[in-house]
Amino acid sequence: MAKTYKIATIPGDGTGPEVVREALKALHAAASKGGFTFEFVEYDFGGERYLKTGETLPDSAITEFKRFDAMLLGAIGHPDVTPGILEIGILLKIRFALDQYINLRPVKLYPNVETPLRDKGPEHVDFVVVRENSGGIYTGHGGATRVGTPDEIATQLMVYDRRTVDRCLKYAFELKKRRNAASTKYAQKPITLVHKRNVLTHCGDLWYRAFEEMGSTQYPELARDYNHVDAANMWFVKNPEWFDVAVTENLFGDIITDLGAMIQGGLGVAAGGNINPEGVSMFEPMGGSAPKYTGQNVINPMAAIGAAMMMLDSLGETKSALAIETAMMAAMTRMKSQAAGKMGYSTTEVGDMIAGAI
Ligand code: IPM
Ligand code: MN
Repeated sequence: MAKTYKIATIPGDGTGPEVVREALKALHAAASKGGFTFEFVEYDFGGERYLKTGETLPDSAITEFKRFDAMLLGAIGHPDVTPGILEIGILLKIRFALDQYINLRPVKLYPNVETPLRDKGPEHVDFVVVRENSGGIYTGHGGATRVGTPDEIATQLMVYDRRTVDRCLKYAFELKKRRNAASTKYAQKPITLVHKRNVLTHCGDLWYRAFEEMGSTQYPELARDYNHVDAANMWFVKNPEWFDVAVTENLFGDIITDLGAMIQGGLGVAAGGNINPEGVSMFEPMGGSAPKYTGQNVINPMAAIGAAMMMLDSLGETKSALAIETAMMAAMTRMKSQAAGKMGYSTTEVGDMIAGAI
């Protein structure tokens, strides 16, 4: 009996459905080649549904999601909905409720993809950010008092406990070990902790000590490095080739991975995974719903297809993930640009090209 993977899809808003459609083509092609099958269940959560029903994501959906092998998300965000409602009510709710405590964001520049970094090519930009995805400022601790008065006070706390830090570091060290085993070009580089421990002396100290302790006792063979987050930004631009695995807390990870997305060719190509190594993970293109491109068949599906590739990899279908990557690379060499509307192909043509090459 062929293995069947149950996948929940949330195409979402704007161009989300257009790119998810192309990702599904790639997955179907990979499945028929790899000898397994998919069962997709589509959910209509997003801005349109919220505007119609007032509902973002009911708790019952979380219960249902737990029965899937993985999830694929298009984009969440609607111009007619106040910012924050959908982000917190859908995206962050899923990440937290399913305890997807790792946000894995590869920063890989493929051949023929344009980067704003002069003199840098694919040999320089090939690392991955492990962003802690369940703690920090995203936990919502804090509050506001005297609101609307000149004495208004607002706090938003960066919250971390040792267990949350340790489980993230563990994932990052294990990933580094696998990458070192896969290639000497990775093995030459350290694993880098990114924080701001010169100022955030409490949280920074917790992360740093946990990193040093786990590294020295459990992974003594792995070289360790540390960068302050402001400096890491600088090095991402100036010397991206120094990085292989960079691990960091939630908000810093959010910020540096937008920079990472740009140096790998933009939001048209950047993908990520919200991972619960012991549970259900959700994969997504990093770009938003791009309202101005919606329905025009011009958005780049590459990032969504990259997310599908990451999903296959996490399901253990490594060979099929590689087949998708190879097909993506073949398409990239033919495309004029990875920017929406400038690809030299339509959304569906890029999807067909990749599915065909698989
Ligand atoms: C991301 C996004 C989200 C985040 C928003 C939309 C809540 O910026 O996935 O990086 O801050 O994590
Ligand atoms: Mn972000």
